[in-house]
Amino acid sequence: MSDAIEGLLEEGRTFPPPPEFAATARVRDSSLQAAADADPEAFWAGQAAELLDWDRPWDRVLDWQPPDAQWFLGGTLNVAHNCVDRHVAAGLGDRVAFLWEGEPGDERAITYAELQDEVSRAANALLALGIERGDRVAIYMGMVPELPIAMLACARIGAAHSVVFGGFTADSLRGRINDAEAKALITCDGAWRRGAVVPLKDIADEALQDAPSVHHCIVLRRTDHGVSMTPGRDHWWHDLVEAQSEHCPPEPMDAEQLLFILYTSGTTAKPKGIMHTTGGYLTQVASTFRNVFDIRPESDVYWCTADCGWVTGHSYIVYGPLANGATSVIYEGTPDHPDKDRFWAIVEKYGVTILYTAPTAIRTFMKWGDEYPQRRDLSSLRLLGSVGEPINPEAWIWYHDVIGHGRTPIVDTWWQTETGAIMISPLPGATPLKPGSATFPLPGVGADVVGDDGEPVGVPGGGYLVLNRPWPSMLRGVWGDPQRFRDTYWSRFEGLYFAGDGAKRDADGYLWLLGRVDDVMLVSGHNISTAEVESALVDHHAVAEAAVVGTTDATTGQAVSAFVILRSGNVASDDLVRELRDHVAKLIGPIAKPKSILFTDDLPKTRSGKIMRRLLRNVAEDESLGDTTTLADPSVVAGIRDRYLASNAGGDDE
Ligand code: WT7
Repeated sequence: MSDAIEGLLEEGRTFPPPPEFAATARVRDSSLQAAADADPEAFWAGQAAELLDWDRPWDRVLDWQPPDAQWFLGGTLNVAHNCVDRHVAAGLGDRVAFLWEGEPGDERAITYAELQDEVSRAANALLALGIERGDRVAIYMGMVPELPIAMLACARIGAAHSVVFGGFTADSLRGRINDAEAKALITCDGAWRRGAVVPLKDIADEALQDAPSVHHCIVLRRTDHGVSMTPGRDHWWHDLVEAQSEHCPPEPMDAEQLLFILYTSGTTAKPKGIMHTTGGYLTQVASTFRNVFDIRPESDVYWCTADCGWVTGHSYIVYGPLANGATSVIYEGTPDHPDKDRFWAIVEKYGVTILYTAPTAIRTFMKWGDEYPQRRDLSSLRLLGSVGEPINPEAWIWYHDVIGHGRTPIVDTWWQTETGAIMISPLPGATPLKPGSATFPLPGVGADVVGDDGEPVGVPGGGYLVLNRPWPSMLRGVWGDPQRFRDTYWSRFEGLYFAGDGAKRDADGYLWLLGRVDDVMLVSGHNISTAEVESALVDHHAVAEAAVVGTTDATTGQAVSAFVILRSGNVASDDLVRELRDHVAKLIGPIAKPKSILFTDDLPKTRSGKIMRRLLRNVAEDESLGDTTTLADPSVVAGIRDRYLASNAGGDDE
């Protein structure tokens, strides 16, 4: 940490809301918080009534049978109507919903009226293929406008979408399709990424070889590089969707109708299908988008740089912004194409006022240097956001000074795929900021820090982050695995949701998130399970056993570090390291590639045979080994440490 920042933190310097921002902010004081504290259920009911259109009002706000919650029981609404049609009906049809920019530089502006037509046609196409309410539809696309259109089309007819990130492999896609038993897949011929085509349709074809539930595949033409189409199964979007009528009345859905499944890594190799439903989810994403981003739909241009394949894209590219009638930028490609100022060129060109991105991106921009943002006019920005992992104070200050020119508040938003919406965040017009702290739970949210015994640690204190009250956008379970839902989130502490993050509270009560405490790594803000990477390594014929840990990395937050025992007859070599890294990339995706691989003859294990990853982490982080008395053979870890230091297994940078 630089001296300047250390000084800043020691002084406990806070950044109060800039007066000109606070003067017009939606939330300027603690009255909303006070109202929510007094009666959280009434607060959420108020948000649901104020922010959404209901076809039928609910009979009860909440039914809470821990760990199962139902919100707005008896109420009905349609998500697509709330995100699109009602804005057109209110006379806002000419407002732009999406300002889309393709990586090659092509552009499209899509108004709410156009979005209504497109979503209706796509919904009619799904109906024509026999997709019904309750069915699952997998979506595997690049960042083109048809991705949110496909999501909204599903919502319109009550089919649940399962968006699979376009960077995932055929195996990952197939596993997710089969787990959800998706009836249809919507994909693209390809996507543009760093000037090259990602062959999505080829990957999808490979996945579909063993995905018996899928009867139809809709293919959007984007890269036009020539793909094979399977007669009967595959349909071009431009043939099927464009031939449909633009009339497709949105049907009222039960508030607890499944809206989507989104897979996230857990501590075992099999990803969990996180389920989100309709009324509570939309209430909380609409409310948090409005209050955290202080949105003024008539004048703001908002840009969230995430991909729709992650929950951030679901909640803060699609549902939150559209429910508020906002105008958003969507960008297809990478930040360094054709040059490292692409993001800042987009901010300048569209006059972006609110930018929401991830610490890993911010650290990359820092590494590239100030010259890139300085080339462009960033004066339109009035608010910055961060999500995905703890933002270190250096990155916070750089973001604030170099991107925000010292004028913009930063909202550091803590949440998870499971929480569906932002839970802990400053309210930019009301909360004094401390660089690196996500500050306080939002109104209506109950969060606390507890010790091993489940008791609150008090102020100041450190322990585990828990959520101690149901919230509208909470996950409704793990698809097909209610036991895993209980075990993962509700068994650690009686009556509390266990988030899996370490956290501390400082003397002022501010929350500081400290990263994962379980075996989930956070690489560039993405959840990757150690078990998933281990099983990919062991899948390689040369590997007998593997242990994987997340280690601190200046750019990606955490990096994947692997310790590998080879099967006899195999020899450690740089070529083998490369081969194993590629093998992991092929099975899971490039993001899961180990940054370093150390070959070893043994792994530190407890007497019951459980690998002690903590010790491997200590080795990789060059920390003291602490207590090794529970090890079956304490000399093993000392041997690994010697080899690790000798090998300089820092890995190569990519
Ligand atoms: C995990 C959830 C939320 C969308 C993207 C990630 C970490 C997320 C923050 C933050 C510190 C954060 C946590 C959390 N995380 N935001 N502002 N400060 N940590 O969603 O893949 O479900 O990962 O991301 O560790 O548990 P996800």
